[in-house]
Amino acid sequence: MTQRATLLPNTESESGSTQKAAPTKRFNALTDAIARHVGCENASFHTPGHKGRTPARSASLLDEYPWQTDLTELPGLDDLSRPEGVLADLEARAARIWGASESILSVNGASAALAASILALSARGSTVLVPRNAHRSIVHGLVLSGLFPIWYEPVWDDDWGLWSSVSAVSVERLLERSGTELAGLIVVSPTYAGALSDLPAIAQVCRNAGVTLIADEAHGAHFLPESAMPTSAVGHADIVVHSLHKTLPALTQTGLLHVSRDSKISGDELRQALRLLQSSSPSYLLMASVEQALRQVEPPYKADTLADLHRLSFEISDFAKANPDFTLYQPAGGVCPAHILLGCTERQPDQLYNFLCERGIFPETMLGQGVLFMLGVGSRSCDVHLLTQTLSDFIQQISKEPAGQSAFAGPQAPARRPAEPIQILSPRQAFLLPSEVVPVNNSVGRISAATIAPCPPGTPLIVAGQRVPEEILECASLQTLRVVVT
Ligand SMILES: Cc1ncc(COP(=O)(O)O)c(C=O)c1O
Repeated sequence: MTQRATLLPNTESESGSTQKAAPTKRFNALTDAIARHVGCENASFHTPGHKGRTPARSASLLDEYPWQTDLTELPGLDDLSRPEGVLADLEARAARIWGASESILSVNGASAALAASILALSARGSTVLVPRNAHRSIVHGLVLSGLFPIWYEPVWDDDWGLWSSVSAVSVERLLERSGTELAGLIVVSPTYAGALSDLPAIAQVCRNAGVTLIADEAHGAHFLPESAMPTSAVGHADIVVHSLHKTLPALTQTGLLHVSRDSKISGDELRQALRLLQSSSPSYLLMASVEQALRQVEPPYKADTLADLHRLSFEISDFAKANPDFTLYQPAGGVCPAHILLGCTERQPDQLYNFLCERGIFPETMLGQGVLFMLGVGSRSCDVHLLTQTLSDFIQQISKEPAGQSAFAGPQAPARRPAEPIQILSPRQAFLLPSEVVPVNNSVGRISAATIAPCPPGTPLIVAGQRVPEEILECASLQTLRVVVT
């Protein structure tokens, strides 16, 4: 990779020169761990989208003096809680890029933006239609708002063990069955694995029914108007949430809330909700990184940026298609070019995942029956060449070895369709009631007070207020569970 920073171990002690070496080491444990990772990573196929590279044409102050860039609400620097100056301009610029009526900056990622959207939605009813593949921040929004979730199922992909897209027809049926207390509908597109739903068609169905639509497009910030990328939900759904660090090159923890022209929820309501969830000291380093990321996706650079992303995506998928040892996730509704989920016909995903990590190629995660690779604006041809070469090496190596299960047991989605949830209490009720921690064996049949949603992918195994199903016992890493005392 090009231009990787070297983090030198700091041998100076915290309180001066009298400290011994051992405690000093402890003071730097995290920085050292980061340095070790940076030192061994040859190619990044995980978030963030800058891939450890300074975005092209980036202002050098950020790169050279990050500590000096870390400022507060000083004259000329505006105030994110009520932006009127440079931050208001930045938000207006984002709105122009995606075609929103208004865009609101989040310094707590798509997570806070989603929770804020749900808080703002709660004035409009008491229930909300939530997909089974909702990110845990949506559940956090339910806990905060008191909304009662009506869980609905996107298409379940048996081959890959994943929730996939949602069709406009199935949304229409859902809305016909839902009562007048419905506050809105949430859709995740693209999914964590990249599956796309037809958001413009779903938005039309919602509009006809007068239902508010929130689109979690955290993984699709690169879906820009007038580009060959999939169509964004911005301008269709009432509210669209973007993460700016997944595929774009802003620093981690940045996001946007886009409000469409006819949105049933106003920007003002969203800002009010977001203020509850964000620090009163938003990081100027993060906000400036958003500005640098926006530069990459507006004219005159937009076309090149997106063309590069497309080209790299095709290179990997063409390689996988031409190689019978690999299978490529190709959901019926289409897939986001930045998400490439690969399975290996002869081996478990953990073996492929381990093989790559040992060679300094870090995928995003194992997911269902495959390994997920994420491309970003910072991805380069050299990363992709290294990946395809190493995938070929993997095939060569396994052709010489008998198949066997490797010891690594990292994050992996269940291959079996998860049991249908029984939501007894709202997540907020369950969160606030008296609760106790019990061994997971004793939790079956009781009401969970906790939401368990391992990240990645952050989709819940169980949500607060749900009856604990027997399947919970299959989750080997779960020893205890907090349940409601009834
Ligand atoms: C589908 C989905 N929505 C929302 C989020 C939250 O995004 P952020 O990391 O920007 O808070 C994630 C994070 O992985 C996600 O996968």
